[in-house]
Amino acid sequence: MRGLPLSGLKKPGTPVARGPAGGIREDGGRGSQEQTILVVGEPEAEFLARAMFPGAEVIASVKETALAEYMAGRVRPHVVVVDPTVTPRGETVEQWVGRLQISFPGIEVIILPAGQGSGRERRPLGAPATAETRVIGQETVAVWSPKGGVGKTFVAINLACASAISTGGNTCLLDLDLHSGDVACNLDLLEGPSIIDILSNLSDMRPETMERFTVVHPSSGLQVLAAPKRPELSDLVESQHVRTILSLARRRWGLVFVDTPPDITSEVVGECIDQASKIVMVVTQDVAALRQAKMALDILKRIGVGQKEGLAVVVNRVSHQSLFPVSRIEEYLEVEVLGAIPEDRKSAEKAGMDGKPVVLYSRNEASQAFWEILGRLIPGLVTGGECSGQKKRRRFGLW
Ligand SMILES: Nc1ncnc2c1ncn2[C@@H]1O[C@H](COP(=O)(O)OP(=O)(O)O)[C@@H](O)[C@H]1O
Ligand SMILES: [Mg+2]
Repeated sequence: MRGLPLSGLKKPGTPVARGPAGGIREDGGRGSQEQTILVVGEPEAEFLARAMFPGAEVIASVKETALAEYMAGRVRPHVVVVDPTVTPRGETVEQWVGRLQISFPGIEVIILPAGQGSGRERRPLGAPATAETRVIGQETVAVWSPKGGVGKTFVAINLACASAISTGGNTCLLDLDLHSGDVACNLDLLEGPSIIDILSNLSDMRPETMERFTVVHPSSGLQVLAAPKRPELSDLVESQHVRTILSLARRRWGLVFVDTPPDITSEVVGECIDQASKIVMVVTQDVAALRQAKMALDILKRIGVGQKEGLAVVVNRVSHQSLFPVSRIEEYLEVEVLGAIPEDRKSAEKAGMDGKPVVLYSRNEASQAFWEILGRLIPGLVTGGECSGQKKRRRFGLW
């Protein structure tokens, strides 16, 4: 989290990060006559698919069946090649493939023979090294700001989804904005349990049991613990509960992102700040947000939190027309600026309406900024040299 290259924060047209497996061309390669393939499984499956279909274009290689399903509908590849070791949620590979064939009758689906698609030791010599799932230790990232409406939820959702994509679903997002949490609404996950359902089970709960109370975001694999469905229920959640939930989530998923309320005096915020290994403070380029952020940072520093290496700022809704360039904001706040997200109302609204965060789209500046920020926040998590600005072959358009 030190010495960030601020010059690379937001330049239109700069090559920037995208998901570990890149993105997908929105026409699925149909613009050309080339056969297009979507691979579901380990990197070895992609190698085999390439060998089976020489000359065809592998438009994406993913590990998550839910993500593959979404992509199949979106890009309509000619063929989907499935590694038999993939593990669809709640069904067998055959059942999942059957469902895929019914949903997309025009797409040919092929299951690789058992024992050929996976297994590190079976990786053929010279097989291309593609993105791999990596869990980088344990991090609890609290996304916070003393001011409402600056984009805490937007930032928390996008960073958490990007992390889920990078880790093959090993990421959880806790919505601890208990009175007005809207993570579930933004991700179109309004059906299902919430934090209230977990309370009576907490005393002797094992980390794995957390899964019963989270909802999976299909496009990214992110596990979400939703806020109470009605504000009057939020008082049932005590700070002791929050402490236990944070601890269980950390042990179950390793990577935990937390969306928070703005109130610095709330016990929940105190608990999150206490337990976080990294704090991302969200600010915008307006005087009130910056003053409040400065004051909050002073308080945090006084109580020793500012000394934490993991405290950094994300500037959201950045506009070139502002009188407060990102470099000045960093000077004023005296805290490292981790990155800047451009103002992009159309994409933000569309993301909320569709339940698909902007990080799922690579032809989008906000998305690219989020991937860069995640790479800086948790070094090593985002693969493929995206953070160094290294130019990669652009295989796909949407991720
Ligand atoms: N970079 C952005 N560009 C455009 N709109 C944004 C951006 N970030 C957030 N928004 C929008 O601003 C509103 C408030 O964001 P939200 O994340 O809910 O703020 P908070 O959680 O801090 O209250 C939402 O409607 C969201 O879509
Ligand atoms: Mg919010």
